[in-house]
Amino acid sequence: MLYITAIAVIGGLFVLLAALLLAAERYLVRYGVCTVRINAGSTVFKVQGGGALLAALINNKIFIPSACGGKGSCGYCKVTVTVGGGPVLPTETAFLSRADVRSGVRLACQVKIKQDMEIGIPEALLNAKQYRSRVASVVTLTRDIKQLDFDLLDPTEIEQRPGQYVQIQAPSPEGPVFRAYSISSPSYEKNRIQLNVRLVPGGVASTYLHGLKEGDEVLFTGPYGEFRLSEDAQREIVCVGGGCGMAPMRNIIYSLYHQWPERSCWLFFGCRTTKDIFYLDDYRMLAKRHPSFKIVYALSDPLAADETWDGETGFIHLAVDKFLAPGVKRQAFLCGPPPMIEAVMDVLKNKGLTDTDIFYDKF
Ligand SMILES: Cc1cc2nc3c(=O)[nH]c(=O)nc-3n(C[C@H](O)[C@H](O)[C@H](O)COP(=O)(O)OP(=O)(O)OC[C@H]3O[C@@H](n4cnc5c(N)ncnc54)[C@H](O)[C@@H]3O)c2cc1C
Ligand code: FES
Repeated sequence: MLYITAIAVIGGLFVLLAALLLAAERYLVRYGVCTVRINAGSTVFKVQGGGALLAALINNKIFIPSACGGKGSCGYCKVTVTVGGGPVLPTETAFLSRADVRSGVRLACQVKIKQDMEIGIPEALLNAKQYRSRVASVVTLTRDIKQLDFDLLDPTEIEQRPGQYVQIQAPSPEGPVFRAYSISSPSYEKNRIQLNVRLVPGGVASTYLHGLKEGDEVLFTGPYGEFRLSEDAQREIVCVGGGCGMAPMRNIIYSLYHQWPERSCWLFFGCRTTKDIFYLDDYRMLAKRHPSFKIVYALSDPLAADETWDGETGFIHLAVDKFLAPGVKRQAFLCGPPPMIEAVMDVLKNKGLTDTDIFYDKF
């Protein structure tokens, strides 16, 4: 008993000490003005030390991906810190490989600016901009997904690749937050973007977006994302989406047929019941114009009322396995919940695709 009490007391003292150190760092330590040099001095700014590197970059209009809004849970905000980053933190290790750590890769939302820093950011990311936009229309697609169209006000044009996403700025009691949303409108439409947003109960950004009306102004940054359509017209495209993971697929499919009207492409879409189906009629019309486009929707939890459904049932990876012949030259794009992505990746690898043939965003 005495032994347990001693451990509890010592543990409590450690927690108290850690809290005091954090409070002292926050309120007492002054790091002064620090200089941040990016890409060997191609961009330089000064900032009061003590804050997160990500916030300092945003304040200086450098908009790197930060899909979780700085919570340390997405791992997207990677930069290379060559000077002044301090030791890697426990909150970063899950997202960094050994090679990342060796080359100084860090999560910008976790690194605090405490001294002058030298950092590297890929040039492509420095092209992401902040956009001011106006809601042009809001359409209800399903019981929890809305389609929102935004006209671009400033700048008035966006260059995006099919499958990329933007980060919407949403208000919250703690100040603005950023969340990632894939662009569903095709890349050849330069003056607007369209999103498909699923309402997450109690979610800050999705509730804000679902509450928008025509004419409301919205800020976003972007575009971001690594999806890259192969220019090889002989390579078949496979799109697999679940829920709001439809958005990037719509962009990819319409952009694809704009450029390559004959190209072979599959769309696999998984949802729970017929109430969750959307865009199916649009895709059927597209398939009439482009017979090399094949559509498979699958219901994972059909209701009694869905008995007239004559499409697939079961998880979407089973449909992918059923319809795709092995050994075909392909590129695949996957978006949806992590378990769906893992299951589809396994199926695609069994069909002969390699890691470099598969792009995915988990959400
Ligand atoms: C690259 C990328 C692209 C994305 N594209 C889209 C898109 O096209 N359309 C879209 O609707 N979303 C998309 N998302 C998800 C989106 O960024 C937000 O995470 C989501 O809308 C929830 O944000 P929120 O602020 O409403 O919820 P938060 O305030 O962040 O979360 C509120 C609560 O809900 C939980 N939660 C968060 N997300 C989910 C979820 N998906 N399901 C269940 N519970 C959740 C949280 O843990 C928290 O407890 C994408 C994410 C990424 C990383
Ligand atoms: S912004 Fe998500 S981990 Fe840094």
